Amino acid sequence: MKIYNLSMILGTTGFQLRPVAGYLSPRDFLAGLAFRVFHCTQYIRHSSDPFYTPEPDCCHELLGHMPLLANPSFAQFSQELGLASLGASDEDINKLATLYFFTVEFGLCKQDGILRVYGAGLLSSVAELKHAVSVPEKTFRFDPEVTCKQECIITAFQNAYYYTDSFEEAKEKMRAFANQIQRPFGLRYNPYTQSVEVLTDAQKITAVVSELRGDLCIVSNALRKIHEQDDTVDVERITNLLTQGIELPQDTSSSDSDIDKSPNIEAPENSVKNQNENYSCDDMITARD
Ligand SMILES: [Fe+2]
Repeated sequence: MKIYNLSMILGTTGFQLRPVAGYLSPRDFLAGLAFRVFHCTQYIRHSSDPFYTPEPDCCHELLGHMPLLANPSFAQFSQELGLASLGASDEDINKLATLYFFTVEFGLCKQDGILRVYGAGLLSSVAELKHAVSVPEKTFRFDPEVTCKQECIITAFQNAYYYTDSFEEAKEKMRAFANQIQRPFGLRYNPYTQSVEVLTDAQKITAVVSELRGDLCIVSNALRKIHEQDDTVDVERITNLLTQGIELPQDTSSSDSDIDKSPNIEAPENSVKNQNENYSCDDMITARD
């Protein structure tokens, strides 16, 4: 199967494969993820040693990475790792590369309370896969601040493995870690233009907020219709997911930040209806127009 065909299969998450001859630098590899591009090797390990390859090969890419890149939640996690790397210092790049190594390559995740492996390095190595799930003394909860200091071992089993209860937990922790990376601007991937926008001023942020309000309108309408048909839907949990994603400095309402100076940006809490009986987004539509 050609790489082009595999990219078509990954169309559900928008990830594209791009051929590469061997290892890229961590910065180059992570930058690709920011654009939902996964650099993929094409050669295959030597038949004299089918259970080992010193470098990633087709078996590793196909058995390890491809299935998870087709998972929307995992694809987003991978991209957020990449976005965090753009404009980061060499020191932070090394930390992100280590976090990638112990999640995407050697990560574990609970499923129905049982630890499973999802890391591509484990999925494509029968021996280390068995080892990873049989050494509880070497298995720790994923904590980016701790995990980023762990040594990455290429030619032997790892000294430690890290797990989360879900991909969502890994994403949340990675976001919190990425927010600490010193960078004087924010980034946002635009899926329509497949480009990364640098959010350097209030005008650019206003444009993003305008787009987000459109999506919020769609979500609000859908939620209202579902709730009309089924009042057991946990609307509060869904709206909490949304509001928890909006973090602004405590003094935003009274500060003289760029955001407050913009007459076009409303406080996020005004954009989201938290009360179960009030989902109208007519005001959003008006604002967009
Ligand atoms: Fe890999």
